Amino acid sequence: MRELSLNVMDVVQNSVSANASLITITVKESDKDDFLDIYIEDNGKGMSEEQVQNVIDPFFTTRTTRKVGLGVPLFKMAAQQTGGSFDIKSQLGVGTTLSAHFIKSSVDMTPLGDINSTVKILIQCNPTLDFVFSHSTDLGEFVLDTRELRQILGEDVPLDTLDVLEWIDGFLKEQSNIIYGGAKI
Ligand SMILES: Nc1ncnc2c1ncn2[C@@H]1O[C@H](COP(=O)(O)OP(=O)(O)O)[C@@H](O)[C@H]1O
Ligand SMILES: [Mg+2]
Repeated sequence: MRELSLNVMDVVQNSVSANASLITITVKESDKDDFLDIYIEDNGKGMSEEQVQNVIDPFFTTRTTRKVGLGVPLFKMAAQQTGGSFDIKSQLGVGTTLSAHFIKSSVDMTPLGDINSTVKILIQCNPTLDFVFSHSTDLGEFVLDTRELRQILGEDVPLDTLDVLEWIDGFLKEQSNIIYGGAKI
């Protein structure tokens, strides 16, 4: 994929399908230490050890009862082609965590892309779910937690209203501008 943010969009759909109510998206990057890590954690239905293996290596499975998905393998490939790594930890009934480690300076690094738009669209399309998005660089970190937004807004204001989405948009732009060392928005 052209942007890692599209991989994120894709694999978060799995968390939504797995009936997660809380999805945490963490991006940690450092030019100094030459890495970009993406963690996606959910409290959905989880997977058995065998399911995890089938998802990671779909072409090694002998199973023919379901179509082979590519969302997870493509994300894994994007990480491994940089010389990085990929891991899934999952527990049935508890949830799943995907960890992708990228070597930023690799010629095969896929750019992160517009992660802010991905987060905003995910919130807009799943207004009843909670998302925690955090992004850090060598310059700093910020967090957007929809549970905090709900507390401030009150239960009557859905997250997919125009005013709220505009606020989210502005907050993400302003904060990412700060951690990327930009002078103005
Ligand atoms: N976070 C998750 N929680 C539960 N099951 C998951 C999760 N991520 C992936 N899976 C399982 O792995 C399968 C393959 O995922 P994926 O590679 O994205 O392909 P697809 O979504 O097209 O099936 C999903 O259909 C689902 O059964
Ligand atoms: Mg999928």
